[in-house]
Amino acid sequence: MNLPGYQNMAKSCISLILFFSVILSHGVVELQASNPFYRNLYTSQSTSTSQPYRTGYHFQPPKNWMNDPNGPMIYKGIYHLFYQYNPKGAVWGNIVWGHSTSTDLINWTPHDAAIYPTQPSDINGCWSGSATMLPGGKPAILYTGIDPDNKQVQNLAVPKNLSDSYLREWVKSPRNPLMAPTATNHINASFFRDPTTAWLGPDKRWRVIIGSQTKDKGLAFLYRSKDFVYWTKAKHPLHSENHSGMWECPDFFPVSTNSRKGVDTSIIGLNTKHVLKASVGKIPHDCYIIGTYNVTADKFIPEEGSMNGVSALTYDYGKFYASKTFFDIAKNRRILLGWINESSTQEDDIKKGWSGLQAIPRGLWLDKSGKQLVQWPIPEVEKLRAKKVNLSSKLLRGKSLLPADVEISFEITKFEKAEVLDPNWTNPQLLCSQKGASVKGALGPFGLLVLASKNLKEYTAVFFRIFKNKNKYAVLMCSDQNRSSLNNDNDKTTYGAFLDVDPVHETLSLRSLIDHSIVESFGGGGKACITARVYPTLAIDDEAHLYAFNYGTEKINVTSLSAWSMKTAQIN
Ligand SMILES: *[C@@H]1O[C@H](CO)[C@@H](O)[C@H](O)[C@H]1NC(C)=O
Ligand SMILES: *[C@@H]1O[C@H](CO)[C@@H](O)[C@H](O)[C@H]1NC(C)=O
Ligand SMILES: *[C@@H]1O[C@H](CO)[C@@H](O)[C@H](O)[C@H]1NC(C)=O
Ligand SMILES: *[C@@H]1O[C@H](CO)[C@@H](O)[C@H](O)[C@H]1NC(C)=O
Ligand SMILES: *[C@@H]1O[C@H](CO)[C@@H](O)[C@H](O)[C@H]1NC(C)=O
Ligand SMILES: *[C@@H]1O[C@H](CO)[C@@H](O)[C@H](O)[C@H]1NC(C)=O
Ligand SMILES: *[C@@H]1O[C@H](CO)[C@@H](O)[C@H](O)[C@H]1NC(C)=O
Ligand SMILES: *[C@@H]1O[C@H](CO)[C@@H](O)[C@H](O)[C@H]1NC(C)=O
Ligand SMILES: *[C@@H]1O[C@H](CO)[C@@H](O)[C@H](O)[C@H]1NC(C)=O
Repeated sequence: MNLPGYQNMAKSCISLILFFSVILSHGVVELQASNPFYRNLYTSQSTSTSQPYRTGYHFQPPKNWMNDPNGPMIYKGIYHLFYQYNPKGAVWGNIVWGHSTSTDLINWTPHDAAIYPTQPSDINGCWSGSATMLPGGKPAILYTGIDPDNKQVQNLAVPKNLSDSYLREWVKSPRNPLMAPTATNHINASFFRDPTTAWLGPDKRWRVIIGSQTKDKGLAFLYRSKDFVYWTKAKHPLHSENHSGMWECPDFFPVSTNSRKGVDTSIIGLNTKHVLKASVGKIPHDCYIIGTYNVTADKFIPEEGSMNGVSALTYDYGKFYASKTFFDIAKNRRILLGWINESSTQEDDIKKGWSGLQAIPRGLWLDKSGKQLVQWPIPEVEKLRAKKVNLSSKLLRGKSLLPADVEISFEITKFEKAEVLDPNWTNPQLLCSQKGASVKGALGPFGLLVLASKNLKEYTAVFFRIFKNKNKYAVLMCSDQNRSSLNNDNDKTTYGAFLDVDPVHETLSLRSLIDHSIVESFGGGGKACITARVYPTLAIDDEAHLYAFNYGTEKINVTSLSAWSMKTAQIN
């Protein structure tokens, strides 16, 4: 099974060129586009050679550490993103709320830190939280503070000046903390954090949940309030699950059962289901359960699924954590933001002076099956698309394509040779790591090699394999980082997911957003997402190439392929 990847991969690409030539008039497998546009932003910070991993269109602060997105909202037509930020360095610590605003969720203007330690209730850190729109369109932020005893408590902050659409200054409630572990409420002060956006019940009481764990049980404590200031803990948590560990950054929101449109967080009932998401630290993944919400009993009733284990539904099967949604009332959609961690060593993070990205904001809705969510990059990102690669044009040969947005669709007509799915292969990540891109199969691996050096010494492979599974076919989607860098200090874990697409009747599509050190991939129109961080040493800037490949024995048709180079977004 241990085929040396590089030689064989090169051959497989050549065989695919021949195959492509049947389909496309000139059969250019290597997609190229000249790219005079990007890289003008951080010139004072860095040159591209010293900072090859800074992004062109993914959100990041000019320097230092960033983790969770906080309090996303739209206020007076301006989008706000706050984020966990260390003003003093490239590793976690000294946490305050960084703040940027935008009119399109792609280009961002920086502001001063919005929330930082000033009160006893947050003197040791201002951790994650969420924004809620109170009646009259007044935003309020609930966030976790770390008090002088290092206890986790919940605090309230409101804008100082509601006429300032940039919401630059925030005032904290003199009543903080509003929720705290006590001798009687059985809350462990080390596990009590990340309040959600609150929702209003028909009884005119606000509800909010806060992530926790008792022993190994993950849970979401529920609090209620009439005035947003005095909060009472409910007897029962909204939901809990044995052995799932700490639930960080919970999120709880309705989704429409008959439309892709988003719905406001306080909508309950008719034509909606509810989603409960938790960032499960021990995986670490953002897992979610679809169910219904009984507001009378204040209980979440899962339809099926769990927060843990290989069958848990997950927003993104790669690096993506501590995410949060908000309802974008301007465009009637629910938007998902998520933190993309580094895969490099802390030592390397300190050297480059920064750590952490935000994913491209994703629209999120319930799949028509009702059994899972679908995510797709917001259309605003397409405004950055510059030169479209012309597959039939030889003019573009010899140039690189970075950053890029690539969409490819495949068609399979002959399934007879598909490998049989072993009943043991229930863990897609494990299966992808056993059957990486260099392991030849029948139907697959086929897909994209991105951030590839010309000689294929480096590449990140995002691909599919199709297996026969009883009377149906199972589609495995993988992101294989094994050859992503000659630097072996990086975390090169292979990621994988089963994709709920029927390849007999449906198009099998893949989209990848490629941006220097991040590859965000969407399979099946967003039914499975995998984000990877990679740090090529050869495939940087003009040396980063893109290939389509098929390393299976069976032929696969490419029915469409579009690739764009991307302009640089104005980010901070
Ligand atoms: C509030 O913000 C508005 C708009 O930026 C500004 O004109 C006004 O002076 C501010 N008021 C105060 C008291 O700072
Ligand atoms: C809180 O959890 C920690 C870690 O599991 C444990 O050591 C500690 O005893 C717990 N505290 C309480 C009050 O239960
Ligand atoms: C969770 O664990 C408790 C005891 O630790 C047990 O009583 C309960 O039945 C378990 N719940 C489930 C759903 O397994
Ligand atoms: C919601 O919970 C209440 C109280 O437990 C119960 O009476 C009611 O039947 C439940 N509603 C639904 C739709 O299940
Ligand atoms: C972030 O990435 C580092 C380096 O790969 C890893 O050690 C750490 O566990 C990651 N943290 C999370 C929350 O994913
Ligand atoms: C793309 O190819 C078509 C036909 O081969 C050609 O007419 C067109 O000019 C090409 N576009 C670019 C941008 O090269
Ligand atoms: C590819 O497309 C051609 C033309 O539509 C078709 O004849 C052929 O069977 C297809 N091959 C595969 C493997 O789908
Ligand atoms: C299936 O699982 C069993 C038990 O973990 C293991 O012994 C066996 O090798 C596995 N078989 C395959 C084909 O992976
Ligand atoms: C990763 O590549 C090495 C050789 O560089 C190979 O020995 C190993 O099997 C590969 N692992 C996977 C999971 O593909």
